[in-house]
Amino acid sequence: METSRVGFSLLLCTIFMVVPVSIGQLTSTETRLLFQVQKLLEYPEVLQGWTKWTNFCYLPHSPSLKIVCANSRVTEITIVGNRSSPANVVPGSGPQGLSGKFSMDSLFTVLTKFSSLRVLSLVSLGLWGPLPPKINRFHSLQALNMTSNFISGRIPKQIASFQNLTSLVLADNLFNGSVPDLTGLPLLKVVNLGGNLLGPQFPSLSQSLVSITLSNNSFRSQIPSGLKKFNQLQRLDISSNRLVGPLPSFLFSLASIQYLNLAQNQLSGALASTTGCSNNLSFVDISNNLLIGKLPSCIGSNSRNKTVISSWNCLSTGNSNRQHPYSFCNKEALAVKPVESKEQEEPGINLGLILGIIGGVVAIAGAIALLMFVIIRRSRTTEDANYDERSIVDKMSVRSSPKPPIDSRRVPQTMRSAAIGLPRYRVFSLEEIEDATNNFNPSNFMGEGSQGQLYKGWLVDGSLVVVKCLKLKQKHAPQNLIQHMEVLSKLRHRHLVSVLGHCIVTYQDHPNVATTVFVVFEHISNGSLREHLTDWKKKEILKWPQRMAITIGAARGVQFLHTGISPGIYGNDLKIDNILLDETLTPKISNYNIPLPLKTGSESPLSNRLSSDENAEKEDIYQLGVLLLQVITGKLVTFSNELDGLKLELEKCLSEGPSKLRGVIDPSIRGTFADESMKTTVEFAINCLSKDSTKRPSIEDVLWNLQYSIQVQEGWASSGNLATHM
Ligand SMILES: *[C@@H]1O[C@H](CO)[C@@H](O)[C@H](O)[C@H]1NC(C)=O
Ligand SMILES: *[C@@H]1O[C@H](CO)[C@@H](O)[C@H](O)[C@H]1NC(C)=O
Ligand SMILES: *[C@@H]1O[C@H](CO)[C@@H](O)[C@H](O)[C@H]1NC(C)=O
Ligand SMILES: *[C@@H]1O[C@H](CO)[C@@H](O)[C@H](O)[C@H]1NC(C)=O
Ligand SMILES: *[C@@H]1O[C@H](CO)[C@@H](O)[C@H](O)[C@H]1NC(C)=O
Ligand SMILES: *[C@@H]1O[C@H](CO)[C@@H](O)[C@H](O)[C@H]1NC(C)=O
Ligand SMILES: *[C@@H]1O[C@H](CO)[C@@H](O)[C@H](O)[C@H]1NC(C)=O
Repeated sequence: METSRVGFSLLLCTIFMVVPVSIGQLTSTETRLLFQVQKLLEYPEVLQGWTKWTNFCYLPHSPSLKIVCANSRVTEITIVGNRSSPANVVPGSGPQGLSGKFSMDSLFTVLTKFSSLRVLSLVSLGLWGPLPPKINRFHSLQALNMTSNFISGRIPKQIASFQNLTSLVLADNLFNGSVPDLTGLPLLKVVNLGGNLLGPQFPSLSQSLVSITLSNNSFRSQIPSGLKKFNQLQRLDISSNRLVGPLPSFLFSLASIQYLNLAQNQLSGALASTTGCSNNLSFVDISNNLLIGKLPSCIGSNSRNKTVISSWNCLSTGNSNRQHPYSFCNKEALAVKPVESKEQEEPGINLGLILGIIGGVVAIAGAIALLMFVIIRRSRTTEDANYDERSIVDKMSVRSSPKPPIDSRRVPQTMRSAAIGLPRYRVFSLEEIEDATNNFNPSNFMGEGSQGQLYKGWLVDGSLVVVKCLKLKQKHAPQNLIQHMEVLSKLRHRHLVSVLGHCIVTYQDHPNVATTVFVVFEHISNGSLREHLTDWKKKEILKWPQRMAITIGAARGVQFLHTGISPGIYGNDLKIDNILLDETLTPKISNYNIPLPLKTGSESPLSNRLSSDENAEKEDIYQLGVLLLQVITGKLVTFSNELDGLKLELEKCLSEGPSKLRGVIDPSIRGTFADESMKTTVEFAINCLSKDSTKRPSIEDVLWNLQYSIQVQEGWASSGNLATHM
């Protein structure tokens, strides 16, 4: 009896060791999947040391690696890497995410094959790209934690159907756009979406939540009154957004609230003195808002066992040396506009459905109407530069006339149609400018242009822009200013970095503060001509036909500035750094002379140096010559003696014949040009560089000659010398 039992046990043990799939062992499919995950994550440190003998279900749990199994299947995967994230990227430290080969889609294809997975945490692993819609296969997931990666795009709406989800943590990524409606998740306890680019609407969330973190995003709406029903909410952190409107006092008395962080928003108005606090409320931060009046007693200075931070509002209680004056909050609050809030649906079951259907029909009809409107608009002339009637900034600023007369006769038809594709010209509010540049954050500072400082910025629609800050001369009658602003609205052309709009700020109650104009330009993303001529990879793309096309484009831009606008704009600082290229290599002149009466001094050197328009006009031609010289030789010219040397050399080679000339041309365009085309261009460039400015050609001559040499080039290419086109 005894021996047989021992024998049976031994047998059992043997079976245990021989049969690979047994209780506590992972199925071979899921083992393979884990190795695929290891590979797709590019072998992070924490997953190293896995072999085919690793028993994954019995790996020791650590803060950075946890795999939990049940019934031979993985139910939890937690992997925490050590890569940086958007919040702690060190500028200039090279690539931070996984390599270019990484595919979010492949990763989720593999992960969603774990049929019993309930908890997934992939933290600081350098994941990048958007979450794929196939994430819906995770419908039984309970916790998702993807903190500190570089995941971009929208949060997929499929997540809103994960009925058993209790925790959704997507903090410190690059998610943008609106948050899907999470009201239908009955078990959701934790939502942390902090440190993303989400907005502008405050999200619709489930009333079951215990902790909500939405800090460091771009939410710009009011705090919804629906939060009143969040009886289990203990922790609410919505700091560092742009939330506006009143601070609802019910937040302090929510049944379970303990921690309330509303700092760094634009909440305004006064708190009701009768505001009461929940018993367990122990932390309140309302600093850096636009609140006025007195703090209610339950969060006033005499409150015990509570940390209350209320500095940098315009509150009249507390230590007022850490508050702004009352007028600050008043002005700022007036300048703030909430985003249009969507209709709040109160869902009755059938009513909701019916409303949904009606809404759908209306939305489709609206979309069709919008489409037709767009088509009709497109077919009209695009130079319709009427000002958007949005007010500028309450009474601090000067209002522009709503409809400046556009003298279309001055602008030739070809030039007018050249600005196609730009959004309508508009007047921006100061708030929009501050928003776009993140309050002129130093990290968005791009440099000092010839006339003023440049900041990078993002408009609400996500488009990148450049904001130039110009200080006007004092003592300008508002009427005078409006005329000047009309000129700005005309600076739109295919070959200019065009003006999208402006914002004027005049502090009338501080006569000593000069008027500032913020000019909003489109952002051209593909680098400057200088970069293209110095970076060998980019340089290879620029063969002779491309270089000619770029110079002609630049010359067309100059022609527009000289003759397309009245009075003409001269002295445009046409350095190769100022010729920007877009993705199609279309050149755009940047940093050209903005014709405004600017404060003199270092900001506007050109207006002092050039005594007359005549000189300034020929200066532009001279600089086009310099540009041509650099495009031809591929050499960058910084000093005037270098320029003179190069010019002499070209003149000499020109007289000695084509083979000599070929010797000084940029080696990377050899074989791509017709000798005759090159010769004409070189001769012409030398003309532009005449010391005697009256001998320099006009801009029309420049264009005529460049076009002539392009024709020669095309004739040469089409007769079989080179398969190339413009
Ligand atoms: C991650 O850890 C590994 C090994 O300790 C180290 O070589 C690597 O530099 C770390 N990476 C980062 C971004 O800290
Ligand atoms: C949610 O959990 C319950 C209970 O554990 C389970 O019966 C149900 O199937 C789960 N729902 C989904 C969508 O997985
Ligand atoms: C998500 O992961 C981060 C980093 O490991 C951790 O600090 C946080 O507690 C996790 N959140 C949840 C809800 O598991
Ligand atoms: C979100 O980011 C993506 C790029 O990651 C961009 O293409 C898209 O326009 C952005 N959407 C919004 C609403 O900002
Ligand atoms: C939000 O930003 C502040 C300041 O930039 C920073 O201290 C904080 O850690 C950030 N929080 C998150 C969740 O990114
Ligand atoms: C306050 O906190 C205590 C302990 O954390 C808890 O027992 C109590 O239920 C809480 N009160 C409310 C109203 O949430
Ligand atoms: C303050 O907190 C201490 C300990 O946390 C507690 O004993 C005391 O009763 C609290 N006082 C009040 C007024 O809530």
